Parts: sequence; C-alpha cells; structure tokens
Amino acid sequence: MSYSSILCLSTCLLLSFTSSASAADDAGKKTYEGACAVCHATGVAGAPKFADKEAWKTRIKTGNEALYNTALKGKGAMPAKGGRADLSDDDVKAAVDYMVSNAK
Ligand code: HEC
Repeated sequence: MSYSSILCLSTCLLLSFTSSASAADDAGKKTYEGACAVCHATGVAGAPKFADKEAWKTRIKTGNEALYNTALKGKGAMPAKGGRADLSDDDVKAAVDYMVSNAK
C-alpha cells in the first residue's frame, strides 16, 4: 500500500466519523427547533429552559434513560414526545441529547 493511500484511509475515516456525529447533532437540533423549542426556549409551564445549566443540573443527574423516558411518555405539563406523536423515538432521544449537551 502506498503512503498516499494510507493517508487517504485515515483522513477518510476521520471525515466519515466527524460527519456522522454532526449529522446526529443536526437531527436533534432540527427536532428541538420544530417540536420542543416552543416550550423549552422560554420555559413555558415550568419547562427547563434551553442551555439553562441550573435548570438542567438536577435533571441530568437522573440519567439519560430517565430523561428519554419523560420525553417519550410525558410528565406533568410535558406532553409525550412534546405533543408530536409523529416523531420517532430516536428523533425525540436526539432532541434530548441536543438539549442536554447544551445545558452542561
Ligand atoms: C407544551 C410544552 C412542552 C413541549 C412542546 C416540550 N416540553 Fe419538555 N418539558 C415541558 C415541561 C413543562 C417540563 C417539566 C416537567 C416536569 O418536570 O414536571 C418538561 C421537561 C422536559 C425534560 C426533563 C424531563 C425530566 O425527567 O426531568 C425533557 C428531557 C424534555 N422536556 C424534553 C423535551 C423534548 C425532547 C421535547 C420535544 C420533542 C419537549 N420536551 C417538548 C414542556 C414541554
């Protein structure tokens, strides 16, 4: 194998890794903006506000599974899937990941 093909192999692997990570982020951001921001951007009805570290701190401590579960099934004024039954579970989880990663 030539030096240039080794170089390409490692660069291409790196590129495909970074682009798939940002694709997941983008999907979460899109879902958040389309389905969750309406409450979470301003904290409607006591919703933990986007990027508000204090509001999310204790929630994040309960673990991702608990947060996914609330987002999927609802809790108090938080409707199941943010009221968007058309979203897949993975879309909702990606939106939770997006919100959590911006609140740490
Ligand atoms: C109608 C307003 C509303 C919409 C739309 C909404 N939420 Fe919420 N969300 C809330 C409220 C209110 C709470 C606080 C619930 C509580 O702790 O009693 C909450 C809490 C949460 C929590 C914290 C759960 C926990 O266990 O502490 C997560 C995660 C969450 N929402 C994710 C989402 C996602 C993802 C979406 C979009 C798919 C979404 N929310 C859309 C109102 C909303």
